[in-house]
Amino acid sequence: MELSALSAARRDPNLVVLEGFHAIKHALRFGGHMLAAWTAQPDELEALRSRLAPDIQLPVQVVAADELTTAAPRCQVVGVARRPAQPDTHAVLAGPGHVVFLENPRHLGNLGAVVRVAAAAGAAGVFSSGTVDPWHPDVLRGSAGLHFALPVHHVDHIVTGSRELIAVDPEGDPLSPAAIPEAAVLAFGTERDGLSDRVLAAADRRVALPMAPGVSSLNLATSVAATLYALRFGGG
Ligand SMILES: C[S@@+](CC[C@H](N)C(=O)[O-])C[C@H]1O[C@@H](n2cnc3c(N)ncnc32)[C@H](O)[C@@H]1O
Repeated sequence: MELSALSAARRDPNLVVLEGFHAIKHALRFGGHMLAAWTAQPDELEALRSRLAPDIQLPVQVVAADELTTAAPRCQVVGVARRPAQPDTHAVLAGPGHVVFLENPRHLGNLGAVVRVAAAAGAAGVFSSGTVDPWHPDVLRGSAGLHFALPVHHVDHIVTGSRELIAVDPEGDPLSPAAIPEAAVLAFGTERDGLSDRVLAAADRRVALPMAPGVSSLNLATSVAATLYALRFGGG
């Protein structure tokens, strides 16, 4: 594959464009099928690989710096992988672990940060509704490629299977980790307006993360991180 194929790859639903070393590193570490990668700085890249990820091999094609800058501005390395086949949403819901549902997230970096912390905290998967593609290259950059570590799905509407639906919302009751089942759907709202009335009405319970007086809300990705870590590692 040539670097000139990158812009077509960005529009191909079967491919994933990975921008930056960490995205490519995690794709490789979690079994991603890399088709090609390009850099203009092979020595620096190899130094990074041997320092931060000696466990992976990173075959790259060397291209001119201006070629790389045009194709992928600000990237030391860019790659293309096959978009992995994923278990369907019902299979994810039937398994263990919490599923994170994001209702209509708007900010690509937020969505990426959610995928990253969901992978780190051992969540079962991330589902998102709305117009943003959760596999957009900027989301993958934000997740550092950890999309390859757990199922990440776009869904038209919230799906829960037989799980409890927990609305995580600043107006809820204080979160008590012991009261939350081991495999729930945790719903988080859009950045500006929070969860819709529809999701709030469907929820089995509504829980809040405590905040100091005067603070209205946490950032979306921060609230997902705090909730998952409280449930996974917080005890009582
Ligand atoms: C930036 S906040 C949305 C703020 C919105 N004005 C509201 O009142 O919900 C985005 C999402 O993060 C979660 N969130 C933020 N702060 C929270 C808190 N203190 N407790 C529970 N959830 C919180 C909620 O899911 C919220 O919908």
